[in-house]
Amino acid sequence: MEPKTPAESRTIITDLVLPSETNPIGNMFGGELLARMDRAASIAARRHSRRIVVTASVNHVAFNKMIPLGSVVTVEAHVSRAFKSSMEVFMDVWIEDRESGMRSKANEGIYTFVAVDEMGSPVPVPEISPETSLEKERFDGALRRRQLSLVLAGKLAPQDATELKALFT
Ligand SMILES: CC(C)(COP(=O)(O)OP(=O)(O)OC[C@H]1O[C@@H](n2cnc3c(N)ncnc32)[C@H](O)[C@@H]1OP(=O)(O)O)[C@@H](O)C(=O)NCCC(=O)NCCS
Repeated sequence: MEPKTPAESRTIITDLVLPSETNPIGNMFGGELLARMDRAASIAARRHSRRIVVTASVNHVAFNKMIPLGSVVTVEAHVSRAFKSSMEVFMDVWIEDRESGMRSKANEGIYTFVAVDEMGSPVPVPEISPETSLEKERFDGALRRRQLSLVLAGKLAPQDATELKALFT
């Protein structure tokens, strides 16, 4: 399989925040944003692999800014690194100022997807070939994030998480 660039999986979803999607103080529910992120990320993983994909892990989400009712929210996702059957997907979340139209970063997240066949068994995916400096930075960090996720899921022994351990030694 030929390697692909992150740009080939880039997925952008823009939508409004409606009243039914807010908490009692009028800001967007975290779960609503997580669902929008999951949708954008799954499309990115599908574009990269051209296979059925399932969410294996929500590795990290930072809710840095409140998102008020009526905001225009854009979720931008791309595959940052692919392993054998799994793909790390990075998402940046932006909101738009109503008057100036200027975008500001509200949140970000990292999910892991796995490509599967019709029986749900993992299948191989193409590698990622990063191009920009940000893509290279995200690619480089993906291995230790994968090891952290697998350790937390009880699927990798901490002593085998070599990339992760290297951070502390
Ligand atoms: C994700 C899933 C396919 C993994 O299947 P599995 O039998 O554990 O398969 P494996 O152990 O071979 O793992 C497959 C890949 O997933 C990765 N993986 C599994 N769990 C992971 C986790 N918690 N974090 C990061 N990667 C994970 C493995 O490292 C492996 O990656 P690789 O092939 O790139 O090396 C399976 O657990 C599943 O179907 N889960 C449910 C998915 C789902 O329904 N999601 C929606 C939730 S409602």
